Amino acid sequence: MSKSTNNASIKGVILAGGLGTRLYPLTKVTSKHLLPVGNEPMVYHTIRLLVDTGITDILIVTNPEYVAGFVKALGSGNDFNCEFTYRIQEEAKGIAHALALAEGFAAGGRTAVLLGDNIFQDSIKQVVSDFQRQQKGARVLLKHVDDPERFGVATLKENRIVSIEEKPQIPKSNYAVVGVYLYDSSVYDIIKTIQPSPRGEYEITAVNNVYLERGQLEYSILQGDWVDAGTFESFAKAHQIILNRKE
Ligand code: G1P
Repeated sequence: MSKSTNNASIKGVILAGGLGTRLYPLTKVTSKHLLPVGNEPMVYHTIRLLVDTGITDILIVTNPEYVAGFVKALGSGNDFNCEFTYRIQEEAKGIAHALALAEGFAAGGRTAVLLGDNIFQDSIKQVVSDFQRQQKGARVLLKHVDDPERFGVATLKENRIVSIEEKPQIPKSNYAVVGVYLYDSSVYDIIKTIQPSPRGEYEITAVNNVYLERGQLEYSILQGDWVDAGTFESFAKAHQIILNRKE
């Protein structure tokens, strides 16, 4: 059954791998992304955020330990008005490594990538429609935060991104790159050219920096609240964002 919309040509990828060790022992038997946030499993919020933009063909990337739980919790996509495909990331080698698994799924088209542990107060429809108007390249979403050293950090000059550094000890700005990335079809060739970082991961920041060097990296600024729910503190904040949103 076709679920076509204006954004139907963009494929969605939700990255939900990793072992969630910072949330241990909550993650002893299940994925971080299946833990409750508000009244639903965390990843449900990511799915709804994406489907709300009109993107309904969605690949879920997870790891072998938890894939059965994901299939049980999410099913075919019927309950969310979308269609799921599942892929397994055998080794936790970073976001860009996980995204590489989506190359066949993207089938030469554009991809919207969401990290399954990022929780948002507001819709991301605007950033997706901004990307739709772009001829080519990539678009990232930035949020002004108090603790930029935890994230990819973008420095802006005259309304352009001039650098992105992954978790810098001394951040040059307060703009975190949040876990929503919009890419044209060249992202999969770019991933093949990057090298692992000192922490042994294929960083999404390295991919974004290639677009930056090509002069093809645009950005939008996120106004509403946002959290990367990877630690106990931020996990608690994720609950608050969702509970406040429901009110
Ligand atoms: C990842 C990215 C980082 C980004 C963050 C957003 O970090 O590497 O650039 O700012 O997600 O949630 P991680 O949480 O995987 O360490």
